[in-house]
Amino acid sequence: MNVTVFGTGYVGLVQGAVLADVGHHVVCVDVDAAKVERLKKGEIPIYEPGLEPLVKENHVAGRLKFTTDAAEGVKHGQVQFIAVGTPPDEDGSADLKYVLAVADTIAQHMEGDQVIVNKSTVPVGTADKVRDKVDGVLEARGRKDLRFDVVSNPEFLKEGSAVSDCQRPDRIIIGTASRIAQDMLRELYAPFSRQQDKMIVMDVRSAELTKYAANCMLATKISFMNEMANLAERLGADIEMVRQGIGSDPRIGYHFIYPGVGYGGSCFPKDVQALIRTASDIDFDAKVLKAVEARNEEQKTTLFQKIHKHYQGNLAGKTFAIWGLAFKPNTDDMREAPSRVLMEALWQAGAKVQAFDPEAMEETQRIYGNRDDLTLCGTKEAALRGADALAILTEWQSFRAPDFELIKQQLAAPVIFDGRNMFEPKRMSIKGFTYNSVGR
Ligand SMILES: NC(=O)c1ccc[n+]([C@@H]2O[C@H](COP(=O)([O-])OP(=O)(O)OC[C@H]3O[C@@H](n4cnc5c(N)ncnc54)[C@H](O)[C@@H]3O)[C@@H](O)[C@H]2O)c1
Repeated sequence: MNVTVFGTGYVGLVQGAVLADVGHHVVCVDVDAAKVERLKKGEIPIYEPGLEPLVKENHVAGRLKFTTDAAEGVKHGQVQFIAVGTPPDEDGSADLKYVLAVADTIAQHMEGDQVIVNKSTVPVGTADKVRDKVDGVLEARGRKDLRFDVVSNPEFLKEGSAVSDCQRPDRIIIGTASRIAQDMLRELYAPFSRQQDKMIVMDVRSAELTKYAANCMLATKISFMNEMANLAERLGADIEMVRQGIGSDPRIGYHFIYPGVGYGGSCFPKDVQALIRTASDIDFDAKVLKAVEARNEEQKTTLFQKIHKHYQGNLAGKTFAIWGLAFKPNTDDMREAPSRVLMEALWQAGAKVQAFDPEAMEETQRIYGNRDDLTLCGTKEAALRGADALAILTEWQSFRAPDFELIKQQLAAPVIFDGRNMFEPKRMSIKGFTYNSVGR
């Protein structure tokens, strides 16, 4: 099938490559000319395991093309995916300007019937807005004869395992009342539904809300656990024991109940905010969601509070080694990352940072540029040299079993602030560390 994908970010690029890999002919359109040029040369602008070979192979095979030419893109596809960003607006609502710009572009260039698929995470009612936009343009063009459907097909991939999530989705949500659109997407996604039917077809609004409900549920689990961690700390309990105690209940499960320094990334923070905003627009007070967000905002400061307390507020002139800058392992994404909250608070207090992340160094450089109080180090060991303490923000695999003797040698004092509960407090104490973690 011929498919066009607008947007070559985490969602569009991965989806485009995975669809091409099963044999579809995919054209990816982006307005970022530099990005498109890099993609044409086989350079992948983001770090995502398995993505580079997939893009290269399918590009070479001629099934995956990149262009800035929207007219060429629209002409190519029987299905047009919208996979552009929906960043938070000033009031927390999802900014739809990129989505509607693509809708406008599709309407300007379409010459035959089209199935337009919203893959971006968009508030309930967006499919109607896309439909109105396309209708308006077609009317202005005098092409009301053209037929089109607008489908909601939210994406559930996780950064860090985006390729395998797309290749083996848990479910494919399709929001449409159109039989034509449903059949088209059934054919498109058939290669991903071989073992069992993954498609769940529903009305458009339910599909749009399903995406927010999923992310808000996961964010709720995290904030709930962080609330328990705060209680455990104050009550003399160990949240890691509590986690295992409740995770063993199959109704609760072990996923997403890790206490830590709060959730970040490009999705949970903005999606929780956007649903709160959607609720307030219809005069509904989303009490649970507001609490989830408030707990998370506070949790992001927890490591700084522990550091501040440990040094009795005397942070000026101190140097902190930071391991982990990405908002989670296996990505270089630093959007809303807790590491940023900690670094900025340390700088504010007059401290310096020596940081290392296996993948997010370039991104850190891009965000913060050159500054005297930030040293980007080539290895995790180099980040330790002469620092007053080590703070761990991302649970990368390569941080799990470090050389503790070396850490002691390199640090000015054996002090660790662990935002991810990577190590066992008793063992750390035996090894001679002052070890601060979360909820223990
Ligand atoms: N990142 C994730 O893990 C994830 C997971 C599920 C859903 N989502 C949702 O998917 C959407 C996209 O997220 P992302 O992380 O891939 O975004 P991103 O910011 O990484 O990429 C968006 C891309 O769209 C391009 N773009 C903007 N306007 C365009 C236009 N008019 N025509 C063509 N391209 C245009 C940008 O240049 C950029 O390359 C968002 O709504 C997001 O909430 C993201």
